[in-house]
Amino acid sequence: MSTTAHKITFVDPEGTETVAPADPSKTLLEIAEEHGVKLGSACGGVCACSSCHVYVRAGDASLPEMEDAEEDRLDMGFDVQPASRLGCQVKPGDCDLKVEISRESIETWYNEHPERRAEQK
Ligand code: FES
Repeated sequence: MSTTAHKITFVDPEGTETVAPADPSKTLLEIAEEHGVKLGSACGGVCACSSCHVYVRAGDASLPEMEDAEEDRLDMGFDVQPASRLGCQVKPGDCDLKVEISRESIETWYNEHPERRAEQK
């Protein structure tokens, strides 16, 4: 079964909250993209940048441990914290999540969507 009762609450630096089903077969990036969340993805989700940088503020214990590749990429990020993960490398576990979009990620998103730049706060 690809759906679950668990949910992800995405919060971006502009204060926009988006609630989405926590589909365990998809990455946080894929779920964000499907629900219009402004999560950047400069490398297209192949763990080759740090623009999908998020902070997992709740539910992080349910997530798989970070692999070396994710850790190495996160080292390239700005304002890296213990709660930091790469959205393209993490799939939800058996728990609700609260995921905060990093400033670098939303800025990348606007660079990828120049037609939406006017709404940037
Ligand atoms: S989108 Fe580039 S590392 Fe996630």
